Amino acid sequence: MIKTNDLTKKFGSNIAVNQLNLDIPEGEFFCFLGPNGAGKTTTMEMVEGLRKPDGGTIKIFGESPWPRNVGILHRIGIQLQASAFFDKLTSIEQLRTFASLYDVKAGGAEEMLELVGLSEKAGTREDKLSGGQRQRLSIACALVHDPDIVFLDEPTSGLDPQARRNLWDVLESIRERGKTIVYTTHYLEEAEELCDRVAIMESGRLLALDTPANLVEGLEAPTRVLLKHGVLAVEAARRIAGVETASDENDLLTITTRSPGPVLAHLAENVSLDTLQVRTTTLEDVFLHLTGREYRE
Ligand SMILES: Nc1ncnc2c1ncn2[C@@H]1O[C@H](COP(=O)(O)OP(=O)(O)O)[C@@H](O)[C@H]1O
Ligand SMILES: [Mg+2]
Repeated sequence: MIKTNDLTKKFGSNIAVNQLNLDIPEGEFFCFLGPNGAGKTTTMEMVEGLRKPDGGTIKIFGESPWPRNVGILHRIGIQLQASAFFDKLTSIEQLRTFASLYDVKAGGAEEMLELVGLSEKAGTREDKLSGGQRQRLSIACALVHDPDIVFLDEPTSGLDPQARRNLWDVLESIRERGKTIVYTTHYLEEAEELCDRVAIMESGRLLALDTPANLVEGLEAPTRVLLKHGVLAVEAARRIAGVETASDENDLLTITTRSPGPVLAHLAENVSLDTLQVRTTTLEDVFLHLTGREYRE
């Protein structure tokens, strides 16, 4: 559906997107993950045909999106910023207006409102919706003409945890409709939970591209077991069969092991597990490994 070859964009001397090679197949839930300024939005805008690349090529449905390719517009849906709604219209009116712009049947408007869980807000004016509801409405607007690919740029940014969860459900239902989703986030756990493949970006470069599971497995990092300080002596922890390292930091005893089963069984027999936590590898560890730095959103 989307293929880029050495895609590059510069703003003055700042290389916002640096020789990006992507190949996104139909039906994939594809995620650009990276901290602010990584180049996610610039990449999306070039693929959507809103921004001219400085180097490399893009094909979307086998065609070049630039110069402005009207032929692909009805096949892509772009989530607009929530501020891009029409003034003073209710939710359903917003959708009907978008539908008419695309010359599609307005019946799709009710269906989309239902899909994003806003049926009860059909008659509510857009400026009376909560942040999460506005995000869902803007996603419905991007879908109302039934595009093949949907582009969503940080749709969950700034939402409270519950609203984010609700939006995840919406994204899952869009995926179930067979849409290709191209999506950006700076939330690591979101990319891990939702996406088929994740492109980890930083400073315009692609650091890694794979399924979350492969990225995490590729690290071959040990499992970490955390115990409250004082439950077990560091020396005793080091003597447990299967323990690689044990260290005492910040009131926590941290044990690393590649055989968590036997180690946990040993701990269960010998110490109180009330405060025990097990931490498996996450995309956060992958980022740390790739950049040598902690991930900062
Ligand atoms: N219109 C612009 N003019 C100048 N620099 C820009 C512009 N848009 C983005 N940039 C720069 O390009 C880099 C990538 O930005 P962006 O694509 O918005 O990152 P992200 O979406 O990952 O936060 C940043 O260094 C940003 O400052
Ligand atoms: Mg951005």
